Amino acid sequence: NIPYFTFNNGQKVPPIGMGCWMGEVGGGELVKDMCTKALAAGYRHFDTAAGYANEEQVGKAIRESGIPREELFVTTKLGFDHTRVREAFEESLQQLGLDYIDLYLVHWPHTIVDGFPGKVLKPEEPPTIVDTWKEMEKLLDTGKVKSIGVSNFSINTLNQLLPHCKVIPATNQVELHPFLPQPDLKAFCEERGILLTAYSPLGQPHPERAAVPALFADPTITGLAEKYNATIAQVLISWSVQRGVVTIPKSSNAERMRANITLVKLDEADMKALDSIHEQPGKHRQLIVYPFSEPGEVFGWKYEWLGW
Ligand code: A2P
Repeated sequence: NIPYFTFNNGQKVPPIGMGCWMGEVGGGELVKDMCTKALAAGYRHFDTAAGYANEEQVGKAIRESGIPREELFVTTKLGFDHTRVREAFEESLQQLGLDYIDLYLVHWPHTIVDGFPGKVLKPEEPPTIVDTWKEMEKLLDTGKVKSIGVSNFSINTLNQLLPHCKVIPATNQVELHPFLPQPDLKAFCEERGILLTAYSPLGQPHPERAAVPALFADPTITGLAEKYNATIAQVLISWSVQRGVVTIPKSSNAERMRANITLVKLDEADMKALDSIHEQPGKHRQLIVYPFSEPGEVFGWKYEWLGW
């Protein structure tokens, strides 16, 4: 029962959604099962992408749930090939088996052509992000998408894009958690009416990522979980939503997914404590490896090609 957030165009968005990335393999039936369980647990917001290779399963779970479409919020994303925005959008709609998409995002600022591994175009090579955005804007005229937005866009990239927008992006979806709270990007986006959406809000606590300093072992976070008699994930998600950030944790476990949509009200001092963890040595971390960035540049928030 958390109040919905509102995009700059008036569209309502459930502040917590189910992140549907399930690894390179797409997840197949596991994703359908996850979404079915999430719908039963009360999730009404699902975040997938062409690149997740599971739109079909997400769509099936949604359609088979019998929940009225207008009660659900579905996001999907354009893949890397920005030369075919309209076709890619239609393919996503078809894969999902839905009449419309609530939110369509440019997944990454890069354009890659010539298949896989393909050729990564330079920012100034057409289609530039401005060209791509113009195609995104045209999709609104089809009535098959309610909002458009971006993902993995830095302040620099947004500064290149925004002067040319007829429609300001509804959201910018980026990695965001207390080790990467994105204060500058958040302030920048807020001033311009762009909501942030947090992916990997739990810092992806996969066992195979144990080498990455985990949010789950941070004493400030574990201490607050104890203080509020909450799980660590509840503290992380509550902090994120309380900052006004749409938050999309992934869980395929019914108990954890239920807990993840139950928030606690953190007091101001505790919010501040969480806001400043990243200033401690070794606690400013980017977990997601940006495609095509050079080795050594990927974890240190040093993705400089477009100005991260
Ligand atoms: P699982 O699907 O088994 O619950 P993120 O959204 O930051 O990428 O993190 C997703 C990862 O976090 C998944 O591996 C998920 O595993 C795990 N996860 C989700 N919710 C919780 C939770 N409440 N406690 C611990 N781990 C969680």
